[in-house]
Amino acid sequence: MIQLNNVSFHYGKDKEKITALNNIDLTINEGEFAVILGPNGSGKSTLARHMNGLLIPSQGEVVVDGLSTRDQDALWQVRQKVGMVFQNPDNQIIATSVEEDIAFGPENLGLDPKEIRKRIDETLKIVGMENYARHEPHMLSGGQKQRVAIAGALAMRPKYLVVDEATSMLDPEGSSSMLSTLKQLNKNYGITVVNITHISDEVALADRVLVLSEGRIIKDGPPREVFSDLDELKAIGVGVPKARLIAEELIAVGLKLPRAILTIDELVNALC
Ligand SMILES: Nc1ncnc2c1ncn2[C@@H]1O[C@H](COP(=O)(O)OP(=O)(O)OP(=O)(O)O)[C@@H](O)[C@H]1O
Ligand SMILES: [Mg+2]
Repeated sequence: MIQLNNVSFHYGKDKEKITALNNIDLTINEGEFAVILGPNGSGKSTLARHMNGLLIPSQGEVVVDGLSTRDQDALWQVRQKVGMVFQNPDNQIIATSVEEDIAFGPENLGLDPKEIRKRIDETLKIVGMENYARHEPHMLSGGQKQRVAIAGALAMRPKYLVVDEATSMLDPEGSSSMLSTLKQLNKNYGITVVNITHISDEVALADRVLVLSEGRIIKDGPPREVFSDLDELKAIGVGVPKARLIAEELIAVGLKLPRAILTIDELVNALC
């Protein structure tokens, strides 16, 4: 369980003070696939960085499986439990080959070379990059680099994976295959996934959607429930999934369609 208890966070101080998180109470449960959705500047990345102790709250506490991120001695354990993947894969890749890059974390854990080899092969397979072990990371596409970054996070055998806008640099096909990889990690490997995004089309795969606005959680529920009232979401700058927009237009011109549509597949089925 990742718990945020009354967490606030400010950047800067005095006149320059910016409140990025404002009294957040939130529990991410084991096994969940949660999406945190919010417009630019709503505090998503700040929230992500609190989940593995890269940032420590100005007020309140973040507790991961009973370990507080305020406890210096527990931070190492927290970071092992909570893997992070960021928006820009270039900033996350450090080695000159894919396999060395993935080995970096496990080597720091002091693992046996055999075990490291096993984890490299295993994680590359999971993300569909098994043929790229010897490749130079800088020669890969954005989507491939993002997969290597995920493999690197997985090589630490995290219990939780927090993914901050990992699809924002990918084309539609790249994003959709990244999202299905995340879904599989959740379903087949039991990894708790927190996918942070500003793209509403990504909510359909989630069990739970949390909407962030100006550093506060303003909605928390299953995707269809959260997207029942579109006006409120539009008002804070959260987009509406494309399929839903089309459905709403069709309803406006008299077609009888359910309002709960979130994906193109659902729209096509309803139309058929
Ligand atoms: N290093 C920083 N120094 C000062 N202010 C910051 C810093 N990082 C973020 N902020 C401010 O904190 C608020 C939340 O920023 P954050 O990056 O968490 O938002 P976000 O939802 O991730 O935005 P985006 O969608 O653009 O990635 C914003 O007002 C931002 O300007
Ligand atoms: Mg961000």
